[in-house]
Amino acid sequence: MSAPKKLFIKTYGCQMNVYDSERMSEALGGQGYVETKSADDADMILLNTCHIREKAAEKVYSELGRFKKLKAKKPDLKIGVAGCVAQAEGQEIMRRQPLVDLVVGPQSYHRLPEMEEKARSGEKVLDTDFPEEDKFEKLKRRPMAKRGPAAFLTVQEGCDKFCAFCVVPYTRGAEVSRPADRILTEARDLVERGVREITLLGQNVNAYHGAGANGDLTLAQLIWELDKVDGLERIRFTTSHPNDMMDDLIEAHASCKKLMPYLHLPVQAGSDKILKRMNRSHTAESYLRLIERIRAARPDILISGDFIVGFPEETEADFQATLDLVEEVKYGTAYSFKYSTRPGTPAAERPQVDPAEADDRLQRLQALLTRQQREIQDSMVGREVGVLFEKPGRQAGQMLGKSDYLHAVHVADCDREIGDLARVRIVSSRTNSLAGELIE
Ligand code: SAH
Ligand code: SF4
Ligand code: F3S
Repeated sequence: MSAPKKLFIKTYGCQMNVYDSERMSEALGGQGYVETKSADDADMILLNTCHIREKAAEKVYSELGRFKKLKAKKPDLKIGVAGCVAQAEGQEIMRRQPLVDLVVGPQSYHRLPEMEEKARSGEKVLDTDFPEEDKFEKLKRRPMAKRGPAAFLTVQEGCDKFCAFCVVPYTRGAEVSRPADRILTEARDLVERGVREITLLGQNVNAYHGAGANGDLTLAQLIWELDKVDGLERIRFTTSHPNDMMDDLIEAHASCKKLMPYLHLPVQAGSDKILKRMNRSHTAESYLRLIERIRAARPDILISGDFIVGFPEETEADFQATLDLVEEVKYGTAYSFKYSTRPGTPAAERPQVDPAEADDRLQRLQALLTRQQREIQDSMVGREVGVLFEKPGRQAGQMLGKSDYLHAVHVADCDREIGDLARVRIVSSRTNSLAGELIE
């Protein structure tokens, strides 16, 4: 038998890309590839790319440029671009960087094995279709060795919301939900391989409406089905849109023990004028009332969010409204970005905010968000939380895991193993993590 070929995958962007990279690695496993951690000894390099902001997209070209020498040394090396830049820029990638052999969009990953064969025989191959067939069925997880205790599972993909700044509806396509039985089968398989925590993924995960035995299921109904899977201890989901936050999902946060007290619920901005221009179809007020209802159901829930500053026509007063909203919500974590013009999106055509002004706003917002994050993290000291151990810590005998609230927690002199779930008392709060002690 010939030696296995080596595959190097580099993943950019969101968690869905992480999930997709695993699927692509498995699909190419069938072609005789094993993964390698170094591009230098790879027979195939795949960049799984992100198009969300200009910087993310440009990174791809600079990374590709670096492979020139490698390819000169090793003419058989194949280079592929997958992900959202592949979808958005397609042929343009091969024009700009002739060393690329293969371009594959997110909806065509199941066709990767055939594409790889063509590329091996010297063809340039490109597939950025939105095919009808079920990609996920064809990309079934292959029985693999044991894996880490926390896994992602895509349940919904694509988006029909068309926020005025966002490329996702164009790169991921229309919103599609996977049938519930396939998700449950995948979840059971993950649990057999050692997984204890599953994060359900979707660009609009709470709009999930996959087919069940008796009609479509909501995300909450899917969560209750997963709740019955023995050995699965924790369920999370991301990312949610405020407009799809249904009552049954809020209720699940009150009564489903496996559903973790953490919710990523992006608002983007606090000014109704800007929200309207973003095509978000919620207001600051409706978002705040929603947060109130969620907290009434689950008082200790940690809220996380996404923000864009410097959206076209944002004034200082509009920005102030974002700060006011943040003050009211109190975020446990948050991601904030300077608006980045994306070609082809509606907002790209509008009057842009002065970049220096936008930078200044971003700094002010981040200062506030960092303070809140710190306060909430510090408030964990003295509390008892669940921790799922994921790996050994840097010091001997130390274990590292995630709390119910997704804080990193390390425990010294810890006799527990990877995959164990323990009750831990938080004893101190550091910059990016908490320290805890096992409760015997
Ligand atoms: N599906 C998720 C978000 C996907 S993108 C959702 O609906 O919330 C992740 C975050 O990137 C967005 O929430 C937004 O805050 C940010 N983002 C998207 N497009 C952007 C742009 N053009 N410029 C800056 N930030 C952007
Ligand atoms: Fe993008 Fe808006 Fe869809 Fe989220 S809801 S993926 S921000 S278009
Ligand atoms: Fe980026 Fe595509 Fe995810 S644009 S954020 S990789 S959906």
